[in-house]
Amino acid sequence: MSWLNDFRYGATSRIVFGPGKAREAGEIARELNGTAALVMTDAGLYKLGITATIEASLREAGVRVEIFDGVVTEPTVPSVEAAVAIFRDRSCDVIIGVGGGSSMDSAKAVSLLVGNGGQFTDYTERRVGVEWKRERTVDKKGPSIITVPTTAGTGADVTAGCGVFDHETGIKGWATGDNVRPTVALCDPVLSSSMPPRVTADTGVDALSQAIEALLTLQFNPFADAILLKAIETIGNYLPRAFANGQNLEARSAMMASATMVGTAFTLRGLIHVHTFAEVLGDLTHLPHGRLIGVMLPHVLEWSAIGCPEKLGTIARALGESVDGLSKRAAADRGLAAVRRLCAEIEINEPLRSHGVTEDTLKTCAERVFSQHTPRSVGGPRGFRNVDEVLSVLRAAY
Ligand SMILES: [Fe+2]
Repeated sequence: MSWLNDFRYGATSRIVFGPGKAREAGEIARELNGTAALVMTDAGLYKLGITATIEASLREAGVRVEIFDGVVTEPTVPSVEAAVAIFRDRSCDVIIGVGGGSSMDSAKAVSLLVGNGGQFTDYTERRVGVEWKRERTVDKKGPSIITVPTTAGTGADVTAGCGVFDHETGIKGWATGDNVRPTVALCDPVLSSSMPPRVTADTGVDALSQAIEALLTLQFNPFADAILLKAIETIGNYLPRAFANGQNLEARSAMMASATMVGTAFTLRGLIHVHTFAEVLGDLTHLPHGRLIGVMLPHVLEWSAIGCPEKLGTIARALGESVDGLSKRAAADRGLAAVRRLCAEIEINEPLRSHGVTEDTLKTCAERVFSQHTPRSVGGPRGFRNVDEVLSVLRAAY
């Protein structure tokens, strides 16, 4: 990779960030010419009153409020279609997704369907060999989307894509394109302060992994790199503090900003195998996405290390390690150790077996990961030549 390589860097969502900013939801909706907002969240968060400030702000600004609290974890086609029906019935004109990745992705999916018609699965990408294919592209911009994250991890508040699970095919399909990107990401760290330590750890390590994985692909993108490195450094500093004390608002703010930063950058570079393992294991075990990410991250890095020693040294430095005077490989080892230590500090260091994963599950997982590894093997520092190699990484995590 050199400065002679091509790269692109596009506009991102407008980011409005700061403690207490949720109070500006009404003003922002008005600026977007909104008169009736569909506020989308899940039943649990709604009962906790997480949308109260946003609803009050909308009403104060003269924006009618309609609630859809039927968002489910891993959004499903029926759940998204139910929200589309309410959006149309109640003549809404702006969508506000409040919650984790599921709520924000559901909001994007509703905007896509209202703006473009058809079924969600018409727009999802399927992997054919090393390429992605889909029936329809998202040609039109749907109603404006305001995303309000309540966790700090997915980056879904700014990513130009949404994933919805189709139970008929058993596949989580992704629809992507600039027209799916949220219009405004309204990030208020106060909303994340009630997240329990476990969820803080799981979601935070997802952001860390997205940043590290993206940095390790073979893409060239100096804009993305600057953002990803700053995020890795900030997560290293603040994730343990947010885990230790959820009321530490500075730590919450740092984590929310980092997750959003990673969201603006990781899609420019892509991800490596940590996410392939976590997605397949998630489907097989139903354990939280972030937990599986945290369990697999050190092992995938160990596997990949011979293909990216310099970058692991850079990651070591971002995580506060001194690597001056060290050989490339020794600096890379510092990087691996720093990631392992961080995962241990937030108590994500249990082996897969402690999560009830069986030998049979390992084998099934290895086969499924191998069947879909190609794009990430081609685009990453080290690929897999056979199922046994995949299995060896799983065994190390077992
Ligand atoms: Fe993730």
